[in-house]
Amino acid sequence: MICGPFTLKNLLTPFFLNDSSRYNYIAKNTALSMIKFDSVSKRYADGQEALSNISFELSKGELAFITGHSGAGKSTLLKLILAMESPSSGQLIANGVNLNRISGNQIAKHRRQIGTVFQDHQLLHDRSVFDNVALPLEICGYQPKEARRRVRAALDKVGLLKKERSFPEALSGGEQQRVGIARAVVNRPSIILADEPTGNLDPVLSAEVIKVFGQFRSVGVCLLVASHDAALIERLNCRTLVLDSGKLLADQKPAVQP
Ligand SMILES: Nc1ncnc2c1ncn2[C@@H]1O[C@H](COP(=O)(O)OP(=O)(O)OP(=O)(O)O)[C@@H](O)[C@H]1O
Ligand SMILES: [Mg+2]
Repeated sequence: MICGPFTLKNLLTPFFLNDSSRYNYIAKNTALSMIKFDSVSKRYADGQEALSNISFELSKGELAFITGHSGAGKSTLLKLILAMESPSSGQLIANGVNLNRISGNQIAKHRRQIGTVFQDHQLLHDRSVFDNVALPLEICGYQPKEARRRVRAALDKVGLLKKERSFPEALSGGEQQRVGIARAVVNRPSIILADEPTGNLDPVLSAEVIKVFGQFRSVGVCLLVASHDAALIERLNCRTLVLDSGKLLADQKPAVQP
């Protein structure tokens, strides 16, 4: 629900602010919760408690990182949002769906609203860039004309329209990762989850990928990015959830720049 009046000024103001002011503006003026963890714990079948009593909320247009040591619970937290695992206790709502009560046939629909980006982007090497990005639309049964329009729009957003006929081998690691992002957003998801999306990239290519994420954020997508890359996170001055042995150690909001 939008709290402020739905005026042109309110809609345009965020685009004229710097990053941290935009964060504060959006946090203050929108109350649209996209992801809400309320005392969520996850214990795997072998008894391992991967997450303990996690509470936080992310709104439309927020970009947050999850960081923490290997085994801290970052991927588990993303899997809960994707309904690949279910919470052992607590309440989890994502995109308005109560994931404690989601049924089998709702899961596929829920996942279609979420774009996922992984360290290993899992591109199909015998398909062109265009065909890789078109894959989710083929699965959903889109008409070829509409699919073509959406694939081109997604490739344009990540700056790879000129490479639509190339095959993945002919692209750099950063370009391949951007194809993975185009494939994740071709369905126009309201949430993007990324698990170590810059894990295989050098600092310049990492910055390129994060810049693309920033563009989605500014059009209202909610992004949650698991990353070990402390230098990158520090440079970006974004909200950061710090996990330690399954516990939420800190929820660091971006510092307000003078
Ligand atoms: N399917 C599973 N069954 C049992 N335990 C699991 C399972 N998946 C993860 N775990 C355990 O849960 C804990 C959290 O794992 P998770 O993969 O979420 O960590 P992570 O922070 O993503 O680590 P990394 O940085 O290495 O990717 C770890 O102790 C891990 O061994
Ligand atoms: Mg992980």
